Amino acid sequence: MKQYNIITYGCQMNENDSEKISKMLTDLGYCSTGNINNADILIMNTCSVRENADDRFFGNLGYMKNIKKKNDMIIAVCGCMMQQEHIVTQIKQKYPYVDIIFGTHNLHQFPSLLEKHLKTKKPVYEIQNSTDEIFEGIDSERRYSYKAYVKIMQGCNNFCSYCVVPYTRGREKSRKRQDILNEITSLANSGVKEVMLLGQNVNSYGIADNIGTSFPSLLREVNEIKGIERIRFMTSHPKDLSDDLIDAMSECSNVCNHLHLPIQSGSSRILALMNRKYDREKYLSLVDKIKAKIPDISLTTDIIVGFPTESEEDFADTLDIIDTVRFDGAYTFIYSPRKGTKSYDMKLDIPADVIKERFSRLLDIQKKISEENKFKYLNTAVEVLCEGRSKTEWEILTGRTRDNQLVNFTGSANAGDIIEVYISNTKSFYLQGKQI
Ligand code: SAH
Ligand code: SF4
Ligand code: F3S
Repeated sequence: MKQYNIITYGCQMNENDSEKISKMLTDLGYCSTGNINNADILIMNTCSVRENADDRFFGNLGYMKNIKKKNDMIIAVCGCMMQQEHIVTQIKQKYPYVDIIFGTHNLHQFPSLLEKHLKTKKPVYEIQNSTDEIFEGIDSERRYSYKAYVKIMQGCNNFCSYCVVPYTRGREKSRKRQDILNEITSLANSGVKEVMLLGQNVNSYGIADNIGTSFPSLLREVNEIKGIERIRFMTSHPKDLSDDLIDAMSECSNVCNHLHLPIQSGSSRILALMNRKYDREKYLSLVDKIKAKIPDISLTTDIIVGFPTESEEDFADTLDIIDTVRFDGAYTFIYSPRKGTKSYDMKLDIPADVIKERFSRLLDIQKKISEENKFKYLNTAVEVLCEGRSKTEWEILTGRTRDNQLVNFTGSANAGDIIEVYISNTKSFYLQGKQI
């Protein structure tokens, strides 16, 4: 049997796309291998959100040349980086041993591109700039039997000034409500208990293409699907988070009490430069509203440090908002200029050591808050969806609470079981306990 290996960079969108590529390859008679040396085909699904993602890809691609020399595997590269012309040019010039290049809008064509390459033995390139279409009927080879990603929309219309995603994923387009509900029902029938609804901004689901239903209505419908016990979603843009969504979250018993609400900066001046369309006050009042309706909500966020012109005062505003909201977790990033975006031409006016120092201050403060927020779980029982054994310690099981806290515990549960765990200790990044 022929074997494939997929390397996935970037976000859940890409992970979901890789699951689809896996399914296409399975249907073509390939099986998956963890060992690249044995692969007949290697797929590298790329991300271009920050420069270090680009660098990692090119580093790995260089390394693959030697492996290809030994095993003559086919190398296919796809994903967000391939939507950027200068990247594709660079690959064609410096990495001529890449056999297939396809873009994010050409995913459904992968089997025919592979067939074309197998027939002609020549490089095959297929990159479409954008698409208004959504391709239904591409199944996924699911990585887990108990949880699944469900893409509810693609693309982004927000054009945050630093962000490359609207250029790599095209305009926002929502899937039809019934297609989504059918997919989730069939997942539930196959034993899936948790779904993560994916979109760059799920709050604007259905709006741009007049689907006739809103994200809160969709959540209410998913909440009725038997067998689905946990509903999560990502990502919520604060500018579009409606009162109706807050109501839906508090009414729907299967919607988890966790909200990822990227703030990016605590300074209204920087937020305006980022084209985020909310300011510090609006974000804080949103948080107040959410906490009033859903008192046990867990909030997490994304923060960018070192956006051009960020002053010490602007950064102090970020630290201040972190201290006020007290997020359970934050993904923190150093600003990375991306070609083609609005802010790309802004002068990088903050010295690297200043940015590094701000970044480490931010990490320290957030770590302390994350730690302190965990104390409330001590000596309580929490509901955990078991995800199997810990990667590092075999006797330890791992899973997540409804509010997305990571729990390491001892017990006899199997992956996919929903059980109760008594929490006896807390660490910076997880809770520790024993299955009840
Ligand atoms: N659509 C989502 C996620 C976008 S990418 C959203 O709007 O939240 C995930 C995160 O990467 C962003 O929230 C942002 O914090 C970060 N990011 C995006 N572009 C970046 C850049 N050029 N430099 C540094 N961080 C960036
Ligand atoms: Fe990027 Fe902004 Fe769209 Fe998120 S909402 S993908 S940060 S442009
Ligand atoms: Fe995701 Fe990276 Fe593309 S974050 S949408 S894979 S640029």
